[in-house]
Amino acid sequence: MILVTGGTGYIGSDLVDRLRDKYNVKVLTRKSKKSKDFEFVKGNITDYKSMLNATKDVDYIYHLAGITERKGFGVSKEKFFEVNVDGTENVLRAGIENSVKKIIFVSSVGAIYEDMTIYGLSKRMAEEVVKRYSNKINVITIRPSFVYDEERFRSLKKYRIFPKLGIDFKFHPTFKEPLIRAFLNSIKCKRNGFYNIADRKPVKINDISNVLKNDLGINQIYIPKILIGIGKFIPQLSGFIRTTFKDREFNIKDSEEYLKYKPEDTIEAFKRIFGD
Ligand SMILES: NC(=O)c1ccc[n+]([C@@H]2O[C@H](COP(=O)([O-])OP(=O)(O)OC[C@H]3O[C@@H](n4cnc5c(N)ncnc54)[C@H](OP(=O)(O)O)[C@@H]3O)[C@@H](O)[C@H]2O)c1
Repeated sequence: MILVTGGTGYIGSDLVDRLRDKYNVKVLTRKSKKSKDFEFVKGNITDYKSMLNATKDVDYIYHLAGITERKGFGVSKEKFFEVNVDGTENVLRAGIENSVKKIIFVSSVGAIYEDMTIYGLSKRMAEEVVKRYSNKINVITIRPSFVYDEERFRSLKKYRIFPKLGIDFKFHPTFKEPLIRAFLNSIKCKRNGFYNIADRKPVKINDISNVLKNDLGINQIYIPKILIGIGKFIPQLSGFIRTTFKDREFNIKDSEEYLKYKPEDTIEAFKRIFGD
């Protein structure tokens, strides 16, 4: 039996769809939900007792539940830490108590930025918790960068537009499908550790825009540098702009070797997303 925390979210729901082909799956949620294909278990990662209940008779846990950078606007530092740090500790302790074989914990590359946000700090602290428990339970920690797929760009695709920015930087995102495959492979991986995940190599953000324009006729909307500067002061955007609009390059070699991760070519992925 596999328990997925965060299995109702953007990444977790795709993972659950794939796991169901091979395993019995139950999905943790704070809401009341029903499905004929798999079991929902009501619980909250901040409540240890509910985690003890959810992890009964479970062999593996995928722990994705948490407050993300995207949804963290207006969320206090304390709440970030309660859910992302203490919540992760509850999942680990309950897993140990119920003799779970392995936990696959989804952190973020935000945990290794020098200029980290509160979200990144909460993931860094959760990773420290994982290290503290590493002699008691097997844990594989996966750190994806900005995850994207067609759903993420649905509106831009619908209106056939893509931004052309007044600044350029190395963008190193993660296409969702190969990430999900790496999650599936993690069950068999014998090496506990911390694995960065991103596409094959970074691309200049405006190269994506130019290729989509030249090859597919997607219209560019120009966003001047000054507007991006102003965006840094808008609470809903500031975390995203500060962490993403910057030269980024992640070392994915360990993921390729140990998780059999097959990274996507970013430009090709964007061409497929906007071209289909
Ligand atoms: N999306 C990205 O680009 C990205 C990049 C790097 C890392 N990550 C990490 O990947 C994971 C999944 O991200 P996502 O974008 O799929 O997130 P999401 O769509 O915001 O979903 C969040 C999930 O967490 C669950 N959750 C939140 N608080 C909870 C709590 N207190 N107890 C139990 N469940 C709780 C929600 O379940 P219910 O609402 O059903 O209770 C939901 O399933 C997160 O840990 C995130 O930090 C995401």
